[in-house]
Amino acid sequence: MSERETWATRAGFILAAVGSAVGLGNIWQFPFKTAEFGGATFLVVYLVAVFGIGLPAMLAEFVVGRKSNLNTIGAFERIGYRNWRFVGVLGLLTGFWILSYYSVVGGWVLRYVGGSLTGAYFGDAQGYFGAISAGPEAIALHAVFMALVVGIVAFGIQDGIEKATKLMVPSILAILVALAVWAFTLPGATPGYAYFLSPDLSQLRLTVDTTPSFPWLTFGGPLAAIIPFAVSQAFFSLSLGMGAMITYASYIDGDESLFGDSATIVVFNTAIGILAGLVVIPLLFAQGVEPGSGGAGALFISVASAFADIPFGRVVGVVFFLVVLVAALSSAISLLEVVVSYAIDNYPVSRPQVAVGLGSAIFTLGLPSAWDTAWLTWFDTLAYQLLLPASVLGILVFVGWVFGRPGVEELLRGTGFGDGVGSLWLWLVRTVVFLGVVLTLALGLLTLFG
Ligand code: PFF
Ligand code: NA
Repeated sequence: MSERETWATRAGFILAAVGSAVGLGNIWQFPFKTAEFGGATFLVVYLVAVFGIGLPAMLAEFVVGRKSNLNTIGAFERIGYRNWRFVGVLGLLTGFWILSYYSVVGGWVLRYVGGSLTGAYFGDAQGYFGAISAGPEAIALHAVFMALVVGIVAFGIQDGIEKATKLMVPSILAILVALAVWAFTLPGATPGYAYFLSPDLSQLRLTVDTTPSFPWLTFGGPLAAIIPFAVSQAFFSLSLGMGAMITYASYIDGDESLFGDSATIVVFNTAIGILAGLVVIPLLFAQGVEPGSGGAGALFISVASAFADIPFGRVVGVVFFLVVLVAALSSAISLLEVVVSYAIDNYPVSRPQVAVGLGSAIFTLGLPSAWDTAWLTWFDTLAYQLLLPASVLGILVFVGWVFGRPGVEELLRGTGFGDGVGSLWLWLVRTVVFLGVVLTLALGLLTLFG
């Protein structure tokens, strides 16, 4: 077997991980889920979830990845726990599942770049979305998006992923800042800021009742609905529970501080989400669109009708959707890399062959979502309410209780931190973080089946 690839530089790893994290989750899901679940109240729960649960969980994935230097399934075996490979399998399947519909939305974005250029959606933003988001055209777009992802992954770590994301990440940041400033100047946008940024603290209530029969516990209060979406949104956004961060950390070749890396990634990802909210939510208000109406299509429709209304709308539209496209691509490549990495670590196959083969399989799984957005919503709901929290829970239980001290040592390697910091992390993973994810999973399952 040829020597396993590594990142050329530490910045290369951080940028690629940021590229994986920053994506449709920030620019599409986050603003529309925030709008759907009551604005700033959702934001508060989301931020608690990102820093209180997501950050320690990301460290857990990095520890497994860097310690093993192996794909997300092999990793568990290499560090001595063959029986825990199922956690890696669950992550890999979750990533496979998510990429299937993520690529469909990526295809819509691709179409909107062209649609902005020609002004195709200017007359009827609603009708345009309906026409391109489902059916034969959506399938064709899904195919093109997946082909781009396969193309980048085929080139490998240093020439493909590292080079691509180095260019992508800074351009996303610059353009979102410019658009947020522009949104600020729109008439009617002002109430959007209060909606997005000023929480109604009376909404932060969760009640628990016991019942004599199954499911024995029922939850009430606004938080019962918000928590499963906000916590899973944090996992989705940080690319946790899909093997992506384990896989990317497995290409680290050195003693850099995992704390520093993860803090950079989490802060950057959060900033981009908030920045996207500062573009999109004021835009909704300026359009007179009721926030929270319209689900998955709302963002496309309202943003598009805003561009139709303004001077230079075509240029702004092309720029905006190009940024979204770049963000979506740099995330999608991390998901394909998870499965490609597993295949080339284990079988005598070439990277390009595997990228094409697995890309085709994921494309096929995405066909129902491309055919009808009701399927897409169902795929997304299952990922949020079940797959993501279950997969992250598996990693936390493994790292917290099974792997234990060697994980702490791996975490502290290259940091200069004393053992206290590592022990605190382990304690958090075993208690607060663990219970938070259990609660999320319970609430998610009750939403699904309750
Ligand atoms: N984190 C990405 C986003 O926020 O769009 C989505 C994603 C990428 C999820 C990679 C999972 C993943 F492994
Ligand atoms: Na994200």
